[in-house]
Amino acid sequence: GTGEQVLPPAQWWQAERPKLLELAQERTPRYVYNLPTIRAQARRLKTLSAIDRVHYAVKANTHPGILKALAEEGMAFECVSPGELAVVQAAVPETAPILFTPNFAARRDFVAALATRATIGIDALHPIEHWGDLFAGRDIMLRVDLGRGLGHHEKVRTGGTGSKFGVPIEHIDRFLRLADAAGARVIGLHAHLGSGILDAAHWGEVYSQLAALAERIGSISILNIGGGLGVPSHPGETPLDMSALDRVLKSVRQAYPQFQVWMEPGRFLVADAGVLLARVTQDKEKGANVRYLGLDTGMNSLIRPALYDAWHEIANLTRFGEPATTMYQIVGPICESGDVLGSDRRLPESKEDDVILIGQGGAYGAVMSSRYNLRDEADEVLLP
Ligand code: LLP
Repeated sequence: GTGEQVLPPAQWWQAERPKLLELAQERTPRYVYNLPTIRAQARRLKTLSAIDRVHYAVKANTHPGILKALAEEGMAFECVSPGELAVVQAAVPETAPILFTPNFAARRDFVAALATRATIGIDALHPIEHWGDLFAGRDIMLRVDLGRGLGHHEKVRTGGTGSKFGVPIEHIDRFLRLADAAGARVIGLHAHLGSGILDAAHWGEVYSQLAALAERIGSISILNIGGGLGVPSHPGETPLDMSALDRVLKSVRQAYPQFQVWMEPGRFLVADAGVLLARVTQDKEKGANVRYLGLDTGMNSLIRPALYDAWHEIANLTRFGEPATTMYQIVGPICESGDVLGSDRRLPESKEDDVILIGQGGAYGAVMSSRYNLRDEADEVLLP
């Protein structure tokens, strides 16, 4: 078929090893993104026949070249801040729909978003109660909290009273009355339970719950069943079964054919397409057999291992294919003990200046990086 690869999506970099070594010679730290992998993921989403629209959650990766390619693949966009709206508007054609679904945004953020073509989502009573004037005559979406969260780590689960997102079900009627008083039309319901979900049944459950709520409300024509589509990160994890997802969604659609259905994945589109390149700075031994391998970047470029204990593949590109003889703690140069990119990783015996690749860096990598310790940020290179 078109665009099919022999290697699984996460492994495209093996074929690009000479190019990556060259890019790392020029500069590290550096994110490199493989556009064909992103396009292939977009095409997989388009096989979901029950989904009318996919809004790419740009918080995962806002590289303008990626936004442009995803617009070419027919994706719409989801933004959560005026900054994201500006980047998207500059990168994609005016025909690409935009959704604005912020959380605890200031009144001025809504004012900024209302000046764009974005459809506005609200996830609290406060905006509609206190800033109703802004939404008069507008179509809006309502994000509900279905009372539970899901995802790869507690910090990315977005449901229930312990989470700050969404309007709880018991407040929906109040929201609708306030919207009515403000002269706004609630045309859509939205739920997003968390990030890194690998079980296809989840979106069927959200879809049917939202559909049942929407039937009761009456004015709703759109259901946004959220993002959170996971990609395997640990070896041995099973990928999301896209044909199972298609079946589940189709069966709910049969029961509720009257609604348009949207999704808003971020990670699924971009995670596997990106790698972070770094170089070895130092090697340190501690105790009987603890070996630290230091890189020229760490949690400042990729905070996911420190923040969520996230597992990212780590490979020595310079010595790729050599026997992995040495157990390393892979660390960065930041002044915190949490500055670890990988624990207990077996690699070939590595030397200063070797190029180290950190995998699955396309989602929530560069966008969450910082200048902590006044380290230079990794730059970003797009491979067409
Ligand atoms: N929709 C809403 C309302 C969201 O809050 C998010 C992500 C998404 C969609 C996209 O989720 P995705 O498909 O990418 O899982 N920094 C964390 C993930 C935080 C996700 C925040 N919200 C991580 O690196 O794992």
